[in-house]
Amino acid sequence: NNHLVIMAGGVGSRFWPMSTPEKPKQFIDVLGTGRTLLQLTADRFTGICPPENVWVVTAEKYRDIVKEQLPEVSDDHILLEPCMRNTAPCIAYVSWKIKKRYPEANLVVSASDHIVTDVEEFVRVIRKGLEFTGSEDRILTLGMKPTRPETGYGYIKMEREALGEGEIRKVEGFKEKPDRMTAEKYLQEGGYTWNSGIFLWSVSTVEKAFRSYQPKMSALFDSLEDYFYTEKEREIIGQKFPDCEKISVDYAIMEHAQNIYVFPADFGWSDLGTWGSLYELSGKDKEGNAIIGQRVKMVECRDCIVHLSGEHQIVLQGLEGYIVAEQNGVILICRKEEEQRIKEFSYGNKQS
Ligand code: GDD
Ligand code: MG
Repeated sequence: NNHLVIMAGGVGSRFWPMSTPEKPKQFIDVLGTGRTLLQLTADRFTGICPPENVWVVTAEKYRDIVKEQLPEVSDDHILLEPCMRNTAPCIAYVSWKIKKRYPEANLVVSASDHIVTDVEEFVRVIRKGLEFTGSEDRILTLGMKPTRPETGYGYIKMEREALGEGEIRKVEGFKEKPDRMTAEKYLQEGGYTWNSGIFLWSVSTVEKAFRSYQPKMSALFDSLEDYFYTEKEREIIGQKFPDCEKISVDYAIMEHAQNIYVFPADFGWSDLGTWGSLYELSGKDKEGNAIIGQRVKMVECRDCIVHLSGEHQIVLQGLEGYIVAEQNGVILICRKEEEQRIKEFSYGNKQS
């Protein structure tokens, strides 16, 4: 009764121009492995749950991409949102739907924009985690060792001692996306991990948590339950889903929950949120340049990341600390340290 839920409805605006609203980063082969981030996410779980227990929640417009990339997932298991309401409504919808057919289900809810380099260790951690949440009303997060005062992540304050002989600890507090000063303070203090964005909990625990902290959302999905798995589901979701508050599960549930635990783990995790995170992950030449693509020539360049798709050829001279990225004829040249601003000037953004 282990089920995997993949959240794949984000837009990845800081990864432009590789990531666009038409084709966000989770649907792209970012690493050049032949598999997209979404496919790599599903691949990681093949030893943990069978394909008929995989669910994907995404936006309506990505339905065909998901079907094409994960042909093993049946139509009933691809849930379509008529508009973006962030991750809390996404999780409520899929959990309410799963519990109707599989009231005993134990879920791993995963983002679709991560990289894991040590899959064997990942599988071990998830297996142990599922044992921990399968039998009792507990929410388990996976804690990643923080290496910088990143403000784009959630921070988990752990209790000092692990439970029993194991690796899992009780969570003292959860803070989503703190400001810079707070993040620096957490790092100095110690005892914090980053939230990986992967949550383990049974459908009954999800339900309890939403009833406690998101009663309106819970009532909404209660009222839709009868339509699930029928021809009317899409229509009624189209009408009612927009009524959900736009809020992430981190703010909606994790910051409030009491029965929350953390498994501090190290499986070579990274969130592919920005070009800089891809740079960190990539192999580099002697001058610290990360080159993705075949026909790139760099002369007297340092600490750059260059991403070239398709047939193009590029020669760069004298650049230091730059992102040079091309996708479908759109070229971005931007200082690496300014990468958080990419979403301000990307094509996908209406403000520009
Ligand atoms: N279906 C659906 N609908 N999926 C969504 C939506 C939505 O409205 N919004 C985001 N997602 C998907 C994204 O595609 C991604 O796979 C995942 O949900 C997480 O969303 P992000 O927008 O990438 O969240 P984040 O990176 O800012 O923060 C989360 O992940 C961090 C680690 O990467 C939080 O959980 C943080 O606490 C955590 O540290
Ligand atoms: Mg993310």
